[in-house]
Amino acid sequence: MKKFEIYKYKVVEKINMISREEREEILKKAGYNLFNISSKYITIDLLTDSGTNTMSDLQLSMMMLFDESYAGSQSFERFLESAQNFCNKRYIFPVHQGRAAEKIIAELFCKEGHYVLSNTHFDTGFAIYKYHKAIPINIPTPEIDEDNFYYKGNIDLSKLEDFLKNQKVSHVVMTITNNALGGQPVDLENLKQAYNITKAYNKPFIIDGCRIAENAILYKKEKKIDTSIKEIIHNFTSFCDIFYMSTKKDGIAHMGGFLATDVEEFVPKIRQLSILFEGFPSYGGLSGKDMEIIAQGLKEVLSEDYLNDRINQVAFLGSLLDSEGIPVIKPFGGHAVFVDAQKFIPHIEPEKLVGQSLVVELYRLGGIRTVEVGKLMYGKSAIRNLVRLAIPRRTYTYNHLEYVCEVFKEIKENKHSLKGFEIVYSDPLVPHFTAILRPIG
Ligand SMILES: Cc1ncc(COP(=O)(O)O)c(C=O)c1O
Repeated sequence: MKKFEIYKYKVVEKINMISREEREEILKKAGYNLFNISSKYITIDLLTDSGTNTMSDLQLSMMMLFDESYAGSQSFERFLESAQNFCNKRYIFPVHQGRAAEKIIAELFCKEGHYVLSNTHFDTGFAIYKYHKAIPINIPTPEIDEDNFYYKGNIDLSKLEDFLKNQKVSHVVMTITNNALGGQPVDLENLKQAYNITKAYNKPFIIDGCRIAENAILYKKEKKIDTSIKEIIHNFTSFCDIFYMSTKKDGIAHMGGFLATDVEEFVPKIRQLSILFEGFPSYGGLSGKDMEIIAQGLKEVLSEDYLNDRINQVAFLGSLLDSEGIPVIKPFGGHAVFVDAQKFIPHIEPEKLVGQSLVVELYRLGGIRTVEVGKLMYGKSAIRNLVRLAIPRRTYTYNHLEYVCEVFKEIKENKHSLKGFEIVYSDPLVPHFTAILRPIG
């Protein structure tokens, strides 16, 4: 049966159509960094699925119940109930977005020269731990290069144990799904073992679960089980000391996040840090309106209809590109399609920023904004040179995704003329956000 979106339009936003010549000029002015381009010059924006979601009619309606009281806000009460129901933890601390939770975790646990281990850190956590003089390390499962291995989000258990036994480790972070390596799912069994190993060495175990609902539907499909999405999420969150998420992802919101724990000993310190950096713990940097949107989003994300629609869209784009011979990471993850730029354009070396060359070309030819996940983002720590095509929730149609594939086909025909980029300037901690680049040749 032909696939179609399970939503219909109620509000629309016009896409600006601009010419290739105009885009050439815009790229030059932006230093070939797409973070520097105004959204009015973007045709299809696949830069991120973070905060770019389309709200439901119910979210908009709930937003109007906002209570902006500094303390004792009813919007917080609804937020609290929904977040507790989502992750099954008692103590919930709202934060303005995911990286604010990472900053609190860094303040809590990071020690100079100690390792922070992860299946793969996302770039914000990676930079924040470095900023706190700790050493973030990615130890993904060794099966990441096997096309048929489903749980590429897993952590390498033997390296984890090795590090814990022989090195100073501050804490362990499991990113679910594993955004930076393909939005790939984590298996419950791997999480459980990673948690047990970490606890045997008495170290804090954290889940970065901003896409844990997408992980749950991917897990449910593979295991062919009857368990509800909520129950699956609860099974996962039972194996951590602290759960945190940016609600700009599976909260289907535009802003926000929260930290959650059942470990009473952490609560006073988190409360203190929240007051210092975020705000009173009943709003933590969020307006009542944001908290209402998130409270409703955390309910909607538990719907299997919603989640199936979501992963079907990702798989649709992935399969289209695959059928055109574009190397994509398989199996497809929950929020994005990752193109292996190095395999697609093998004549450009990683040092010449092969991923960014593809990012620039997608914009130049088709006005499509994507992001490099490789040498530019992670420097020497890059494991692969990928381009991420993140799909905002409930925002684009199958037609839009077909257009993206058409642009890829055009690039494929002319890719031999691409030469790569060099960095003129970049901030050492957050290079991809700040880089100014120059085309080689
Ligand atoms: C896995 C992961 N963790 C943390 C973050 C940081 O969240 P935020 O952008 O809300 O600060 C992101 C953002 O994309 C992410 O994908």
